[in-house]
Amino acid sequence: MKRFVLYFALIALLPGLSTRAGFLFAAGAKQQTAVAQKVAAPNPADFIGSEVCATCHADLVKKFGDNPHQKLALKNHGTGATCESCHGPGKAHVEGGGDVTKIKQLAKMPTKAVDETCLGCHAGTHPNFLRSPHAKAGVGCTSCHSVHAGDTEGKLLKASQPKLCYQCHADQKAQFNMPIHHKVNEGLLKCSDCHDVHGTFLANNLKSTEDQNQVCTKCHTDVRGPFVFEHAPVRAEGCVTCHTPHGSQNPRLLNAPSIATLCNQCHSPLSAGGVHGLDPGSTTVTPCITCHTMIHGSNASQAFVR
Ligand code: HEC
Ligand code: HEC
Ligand code: HEC
Ligand code: HEC
Ligand code: HEC
Ligand code: HEC
Ligand code: HEC
Ligand code: HEC
Ligand code: HEC
Ligand code: HEC
Repeated sequence: MKRFVLYFALIALLPGLSTRAGFLFAAGAKQQTAVAQKVAAPNPADFIGSEVCATCHADLVKKFGDNPHQKLALKNHGTGATCESCHGPGKAHVEGGGDVTKIKQLAKMPTKAVDETCLGCHAGTHPNFLRSPHAKAGVGCTSCHSVHAGDTEGKLLKASQPKLCYQCHADQKAQFNMPIHHKVNEGLLKCSDCHDVHGTFLANNLKSTEDQNQVCTKCHTDVRGPFVFEHAPVRAEGCVTCHTPHGSQNPRLLNAPSIATLCNQCHSPLSAGGVHGLDPGSTTVTPCITCHTMIHGSNASQAFVR
């Protein structure tokens, strides 16, 4: 098994996509049988081409005409392409009159084996998949994509976002139904604007290479900074120190029901009088941001008042 994985890794390094990749998948399919495992590369003569598949799987082949994978046929000059790139060499299957034991039945294979088949070509764009929370939880490529039946968003998805995600993420569905929310259900944003479900180096599959703020400041450029006077938590702990990313009961997606409550989590409750303009003994507090308008950072005021 180790050797197989290593071989996979080596192939993934090869530039471009080739029928060599196709051979490899066939090797993957056969690895259940000890004998076949020793066969490094299948015989090119075992590939017979999609036209032959069409004689019995006419509907599937016809429908495949506008599949993005059809581009493989062009790259491979039409030989041994598409169908067999994923299902492995089909000669024995055809000679057996459609013997299903002689073809890679991706619809019935274990998740991990299917993922490895796909990653044989897609590891370049999705190198973190196998260590992503999805892969670790047994959610594989074909949980979200269907090569033959998926078409939404042009990404072969089984359903479009956010419907696809809500099938498994009921908590998040509830969050995006809260009074204040990022307008994902309304189609203004997608889950994939902030997450890469194929895995990243960050927790929560967040899209970003450096700090967590990048995922937010991609759109909210006005709070990106850098500022002469930074508000420490914005930079150090990130936007989610004060904001809930999905949905909230509170205005501005804040984590706390009132601004004062939010600020007082870190700043000791202000004593009456002084710059804060409170009458001695008063219980009403002018919302902090009435004065501290540049709460995300300022180039003019150390106290973020302008
Ligand atoms: C002589 C007719 C014939 C040809 C040609 C043929 N198949 Fe099949 N194939 C069948 C039959 C019959 C079945 C089993 C019945 C079924 O499930 O549709 C089958 C099943 C399959 C399955 C498994 C379906 C499952 O249930 O998972 C795959 C995958 C498949 N074929 C792929 C191919 C590919 C790829 C080619 C071309 C290389 C091809 N077939 C050529 C007749 C054929
Ligand atoms: C990019 C990889 C890929 C390519 C290329 C591909 N398939 Fe499939 N095929 C799959 C996967 C994955 C499944 C499992 C069901 C699914 O996810 O849609 C599948 C399922 C099947 C099935 C059984 C289920 C069904 O839908 O009836 C047949 C038969 C089949 N493929 C034949 C073909 C033929 C014929 C071609 C060429 C036109 C082809 N496949 C090209 C990946 C591929
Ligand atoms: C033999 C190589 C190969 C294999 C194996 C393969 N793919 Fe692909 N895939 C491609 C190529 C080439 C494209 C077209 C890329 C392009 O549009 O430039 C593609 C396109 C896609 C796209 C659409 C991308 C887009 O932007 O429209 C999805 C989704 C996808 N593949 C998923 C899968 C899944 C899921 C599997 C496993 C069942 C799989 N692929 C197996 C080579 C492969
Ligand atoms: C949890 C659901 C989910 C899983 C699991 C998943 N995908 Fe995707 N995939 C998506 C969504 C949603 C998009 C479109 C948004 C995007 O581009 O990130 C997408 C886009 C793609 C694309 C086209 C755009 C790109 O980034 O290249 C390819 C190719 C692809 N997926 C392949 C795969 C492969 C291969 C696997 C398994 C190793 C896989 N996906 C697993 C949901 C999923
Ligand atoms: C505006 C950016 C953004 C959008 C859009 C978004 N998320 Fe998130 N998501 C985040 C951030 C940031 C976190 C991390 C929260 C934290 O660290 O407290 C997160 C966390 C999560 C988590 C981990 C558990 C949790 O709730 O903390 C899941 C699951 C999740 N998101 C799913 C989704 C789904 C499903 C969608 C689309 C329906 C979606 N997200 C849309 C930014 C976003
Ligand atoms: C087939 C079910 C399924 C689908 C569909 C699905 N997920 Fe997940 N997702 C899971 C499981 C299971 C986990 C890992 C356990 C967990 O943390 O909930 C997970 C984990 C996550 C995490 C990481 C949570 C963490 O704690 O690190 C994010 C973010 C996420 N999913 C977003 C999405 C988005 C966005 C979509 C739609 C494009 C989606 N998921 C589609 C099942 C699914
Ligand atoms: C120290 C707490 C805190 C942190 C950290 C923080 N914010 Fe805010 N943010 C606030 C408060 C308080 C408001 C309400 C301002 C108002 O109502 O005028 C707000 C309002 C907003 C608004 C809506 C009003 C506007 O200015 O357009 C956006 C968008 C926003 N924040 C984005 C971000 C982003 C992006 C980050 C991370 C870079 C971030 N915030 C980090 C406290 C914070
Ligand atoms: C893909 C673009 C995009 C990303 C990424 C994004 N936002 Fe937003 N955000 C928006 C848009 C558009 C609005 C205003 C539209 C609306 O929802 O009414 C908004 C609104 C807000 C608001 C004001 C909400 C209100 O109703 O008062 C806050 C606060 C906010 N975003 C914080 C964040 C934080 C924190 C992150 C990172 C976790 C983030 N945003 C990531 C696009 C984005
Ligand atoms: C997560 C903790 C946290 C939250 C929440 C927070 N701050 Fe801060 N704030 C800090 C830290 C840390 C500093 C920098 C260290 C210091 O001087 O106290 C700072 C600095 C400041 C300063 C400048 C202090 C100076 O000495 O010049 C002001 C003004 C300020 N915060 C106002 C607010 C207001 C108003 C809110 C609520 C909207 C708020 N902060 C929310 C942690 C927080
Ligand atoms: C009436 C306007 C106003 C309101 C309302 C206000 N501040 Fe201030 N605050 C100021 C000004 C002006 C300064 C700068 C004082 C200085 O530089 O000496 C300041 C300074 C600060 C400082 C840094 C100096 C210190 O005293 O520690 C913090 C922290 C702070 N405010 C937090 C808050 C919080 C939290 C709230 C809400 C509970 C709030 N402010 C409400 C005007 C206001």
